[in-house]
Amino acid sequence: MLQPEYSDDYTEPRLAVFYDRLNPWGPERDFYLDLVMSAGSVLDVGCGTGIVLRRARAAGHIGRLVGLDPAAAMLNQATTRTDVDWILGDLGTVSFEPEFDLVIMTGHVFQVFLTDEQIAAALTAVRTALADGGRFVFETLNPRLRPWERWTNSAEIVADDGTAVTAANTDPRLVDHGIVEVVGMFSSPSWQRAVLCPSRLRFVEVAELDAMLSAAGFAVFERYGRWDRRPFTDQEPEIITIATGV
Ligand SMILES: C[S@@+](CC[C@H](N)C(=O)[O-])C[C@H]1O[C@@H](n2cnc3c(N)ncnc32)[C@H](O)[C@@H]1O
Repeated sequence: MLQPEYSDDYTEPRLAVFYDRLNPWGPERDFYLDLVMSAGSVLDVGCGTGIVLRRARAAGHIGRLVGLDPAAAMLNQATTRTDVDWILGDLGTVSFEPEFDLVIMTGHVFQVFLTDEQIAAALTAVRTALADGGRFVFETLNPRLRPWERWTNSAEIVADDGTAVTAANTDPRLVDHGIVEVVGMFSSPSWQRAVLCPSRLRFVEVAELDAMLSAAGFAVFERYGRWDRRPFTDQEPEIITIATGV
């Protein structure tokens, strides 16, 4: 086997084609789908392959659905459905009016914002996009449980074109205050080289998160610790937040 090659991003074309196979539908997506189905207009920030909005439209959502993501290869998976608005970009690319009843960030997208400045800019842009009475719903992993210490899992999937792929997380570690780096390793008997793909995620404590939300003009309306809506405590894995504008 040749030396592995590095890729900047797990959202690149070779890897994006099997993202949905690696991240199949689960309770977190049911949680978001329920919210989307009861909202008139929805913006999904970092929508990736658009799985939630595609499912919402298929389930009969008749309002405006907009998916925003900076990774073209991920959006290419989404655009199989043409009755959703897909926008290539991030919250800095597009200026929204206060036009959405619901803004969601699923799949821990919130954690891609690594600096205080990036978080503040994202929250401000989401606040601007929310219509009166609108809700912003997202989750971030609870740092108290140090979940990255257990990120050594691997999965085998068969992509749509029949390629067998093994995906594994390797070497997860805290590289800076609240910043975790993990290297995804993707390999297949059909490929000459494995692909190594480092990514970084920021972890914030609840108190820090709430201060950032408040500074951006949000109040926490509800908070859960799991997808069955049990209340958040320090021992729960997720910090799931439903915020409203103040
Ligand atoms: C883990 S995936 C989650 C995708 C999707 N929300 C889901 O639940 O399957 C993270 C996504 O965030 C996107 N992303 C990365 N940086 C972003 C940014 N600055 N703004 C919005 N999305 C971003 C990536 O392109 C990727 O599609």
